Amino acid sequence: MPAGGFSVAAPPGTEFEAKITPIVIVSCIMAATGGLMFGYDVGVSGGVTSMNDFLLKFFPKVYRKKNEPGLDSNYCKYDNQGLQLFTSSLYLAGLTATFFASYTTRRLGRRLTMLIAGIFFIIGVIFNGAAQNLGMLIVGRILLGCGVGFANQAVPLFLSEIAPTRIRGGLNILFQLNVTIGILFANLVNYGTSKIHPWGWRLSLSLAGIPAVLLTVGALFVVDTPNSLIERGRLEEGKAVLRKIRGTDNIEPEFNEILEASRIAQQVKHPFRNLLKRRNIPQLTIAILLQIFQQFTGINAIMFYAPVLFNTLGFKSDASLYSAVITGAVNVLSTVVSIYSVDRVGRRVLLLEAGVQMFLSQVVISVILGIKVTDHSDNLSHGYAVFVVVMVCTFVSAFAWSWGPLGWLIPSETFPLETRSAGQSITVCVNLLFTFVIAQAFLSMLCHLKYGIFAFFSGWVVVMSLFVLFLLPETKNVPIEEMTERVWKQHWFWKRFMDDDDAEKNNEINGAKGLQP
Ligand code: BGC
Repeated sequence: MPAGGFSVAAPPGTEFEAKITPIVIVSCIMAATGGLMFGYDVGVSGGVTSMNDFLLKFFPKVYRKKNEPGLDSNYCKYDNQGLQLFTSSLYLAGLTATFFASYTTRRLGRRLTMLIAGIFFIIGVIFNGAAQNLGMLIVGRILLGCGVGFANQAVPLFLSEIAPTRIRGGLNILFQLNVTIGILFANLVNYGTSKIHPWGWRLSLSLAGIPAVLLTVGALFVVDTPNSLIERGRLEEGKAVLRKIRGTDNIEPEFNEILEASRIAQQVKHPFRNLLKRRNIPQLTIAILLQIFQQFTGINAIMFYAPVLFNTLGFKSDASLYSAVITGAVNVLSTVVSIYSVDRVGRRVLLLEAGVQMFLSQVVISVILGIKVTDHSDNLSHGYAVFVVVMVCTFVSAFAWSWGPLGWLIPSETFPLETRSAGQSITVCVNLLFTFVIAQAFLSMLCHLKYGIFAFFSGWVVVMSLFVLFLLPETKNVPIEEMTERVWKQHWFWKRFMDDDDAEKNNEINGAKGLQP
């Protein structure tokens, strides 16, 4: 059937025949390395910036503040724009890169976009590992950021297209699981390299080369997704790949559905403008707010700066890095809880329970710091220090089974097909924008708000939990192409945006057939 023809797609909700083939397994490992890379970059900067050798070389002012007690308030030891730029430049570069990545995923395919990401990562790692001055360091971070922008756009799309329908949700969270493993790996590496003087930090930054090379080599060997091949007019190749990845010859129904989906997608000439149509407003609003809320839980204050934060609280360098390893491990384990429960108890229950847990732990942390850590004395006794770490872990675990994975999962499952990839690039872009804001502002906020920083984040947790309670519909067990009918048109608030859905769709179909509306 020619690409422009009308093929008969399977009815919505139909399960296509598919085995879990070796090629699908290999593809999962690929995606894993994309997530590992992102996580490693998130986790490595905090540990490196708490290492004296690194500070002495690139940030001598911070080094002096940190090592001369009484020179500055405890809370302000690390307040330095350059230091924050080292962490945040990656996210600024990443959010810019998503717009190019949206183009390359469509025109060049998912596989080549992942290859581009891998190459950016490798060059970035070389710049960082060999850095002689701050300029080289920042250029390296910017290149890594471009890699993140391309990888985070292409890898989740690649995964959901290559996965058989029945394991798509689990595979989606698998990406987040690998982000958390990447963070933990970086924390462990930092713990080891902090004992190597004076070049331990170089080793930390260079070891990012492992996931970078894995991603690049992987992208050279895997096939592109059938959806991408068909979208680019390579129908026979698409069909052959579909046969191979599904492990069956009975692929006609799925092939026809992809063909139909790509026909509709091709009619949408301006995917980004289409996102602003009235019937897409609910999904767009939710995707954007979920990203903002995810970052305003304060998670990255911990992920980026845990060692710095624990150091601020009076922990010795070694203990700080050690505590960061503990929070990293809790992050990984709690993500597994989410994989297990997300399709059983649902998204809303996880988010609401986590809201209560995050709020309480942040308030407790804020109170302890308020009483125990003053500007010039950090007399946190051993008992209190352990208690703070336990509270931080309580907070991290709640995040890891809720806002962490669901911030990515929900936007990826609520957009209709024709706006899904434009929606994904807005999701990644807003996420990186607010990650940048937190990375750039946190150390200054800590300096000015002091212990109040945790009260600030707990206030946001209340706002986002109320949002979930009233405005976030449950999407558990709803087939992805039935969201409009079964979720949005039924919701007490969002249904008003769906009024024009049928009318507009009819107009579009009539327009495509050359009829008057
Ligand atoms: C967030 C990252 C965060 C990570 C922590 C992700 O979902 O997008 O910003 O660092 O979770 O595990």
